Amino acid sequence: EHTPVFDYVIFGATGDLAMRKLLPALYNQFRVKHVPEGSRIIGTARSDMTCEQYREMARQALDTFLPKGTINPELIDRFLQMINYVTIDGTNPDSNWDALKAILDKYPHRVRVFYFSTAPQIFEAISENLASHHLITPNSRVVLEKPIGTDSASAKKINDGVSRFFGENQIFRIDHYLGKETVQDILAIRFANPFINAVWSGEYIQSIQITAAETVGVEGRADYYDRSGAARDMIQNHLLQILSLCAMDPPKSLTGDAVRDAKVAVLKALQPITEANVGQETVRAQYTAGGIGDHRVPGYIEELGKPSNTETYAAVRAYVNTPRWKGVPFYLRTAKRSKRKDSEVVVTFKPGLKNLFGDQVQSDYMAIRLQPDEGFALTFNIKDPSSPTFTLQHATLEGDFSTIRIPDSYERLMLDAVRGNPGLFIRRDEVEAAWDWIEPTLRAWAANKTKMETYPAGSHGPEAANKLVAQTGDKWHERL
Ligand code: BG6
Repeated sequence: EHTPVFDYVIFGATGDLAMRKLLPALYNQFRVKHVPEGSRIIGTARSDMTCEQYREMARQALDTFLPKGTINPELIDRFLQMINYVTIDGTNPDSNWDALKAILDKYPHRVRVFYFSTAPQIFEAISENLASHHLITPNSRVVLEKPIGTDSASAKKINDGVSRFFGENQIFRIDHYLGKETVQDILAIRFANPFINAVWSGEYIQSIQITAAETVGVEGRADYYDRSGAARDMIQNHLLQILSLCAMDPPKSLTGDAVRDAKVAVLKALQPITEANVGQETVRAQYTAGGIGDHRVPGYIEELGKPSNTETYAAVRAYVNTPRWKGVPFYLRTAKRSKRKDSEVVVTFKPGLKNLFGDQVQSDYMAIRLQPDEGFALTFNIKDPSSPTFTLQHATLEGDFSTIRIPDSYERLMLDAVRGNPGLFIRRDEVEAAWDWIEPTLRAWAANKTKMETYPAGSHGPEAANKLVAQTGDKWHERL
């Protein structure tokens, strides 16, 4: 794919995301020669520092966060030469915008990407300052980091604010899960394989569960996390995106808008969760002290040092009201301080012919392992060869996709923004539809309409979540 020469301007360039993800992603793309000669990276933030100091900070971040096999000191040196730094307060019209302009105007026709890795409340102010200093050219795009708001109204406000200065086709809203190879694989697995495509509906599928579990706690982000919680942090965006890819009808083509049309149709068809059924359809919980392997960790409240009504675990049963999925439960769950890091989609099929095999025929299931150990597993019935009678047993077929280096999701997404490929970014109507659906649950939780459950750190979550799936005859598939 052709990548034009670019100038990448990062707002929030000294922040955690820039250090952990953005710079390592650009470096790795540089390393594999996807970054055209002459491209530039311009970091901006409020910290007063020189370009040399910023490069040093970047070097340390690369040494810390790059996967070991990708560190090459000589290449890192060359990469750092691409980087500039300008001290700017994005909200202040009198800040150092002219210095940024002097750098950018050297190449007025170049693709310019402004990456907003800052608090979303200031996206509009930064856009306005870019506009008033004539920094937004026809060849400019803006990448918006999550979270786009905390509910429908704040999401609309942010979208309205940025759209005053950028057209929708210039706005790239990140959901880094869409940059994961295995998440994109959902499209390949579903639509490129007739034997899977043919059974992909409620006629053959009993339920679909989507899990994103992590062993980490809130790390250094307690301030953000405690105002967010598991549903805002993971379900509104990542898990609903995966759900839409799993549930959408075949898109008309693979172009960005066709795929996004198909996804948004799913989000709009989600059966509302209301105050009346929120207790039945959702579970929220906080971790208490426990152990991850041999590592003892405190509970969420102790870690925070104050009481909190924020969930670190959320499980939701969702229904998609389309002909394909009528009555099929989609289970979404996410957890901090879970037993293991594991994101996967597990599709449970309806059992085979009971008139032949009776109750011994078990449901087949297919797991798509998003991360780690990217791959799939298909568990199905075969005859037990050791039995003298016709007895069935389950066999598992495993496929491993992780034998080559799988690029980090930001690598693909950051360069897709340069290339102007919007397909793996979230359109405005998707963000807003996702908020519209989750918001009543958030409101009911905030008003304590459902109980806050607990689970020990290092477990698979609260017992209530097992009951949630048992109601429809399912169980969570835990990886061992
Ligand atoms: C982010 C959340 O969007 O995704 C974090 O804000 C979470 O809380 C992270 O840890 C998980 O991403 P990944 O790629 O490690 O699964």
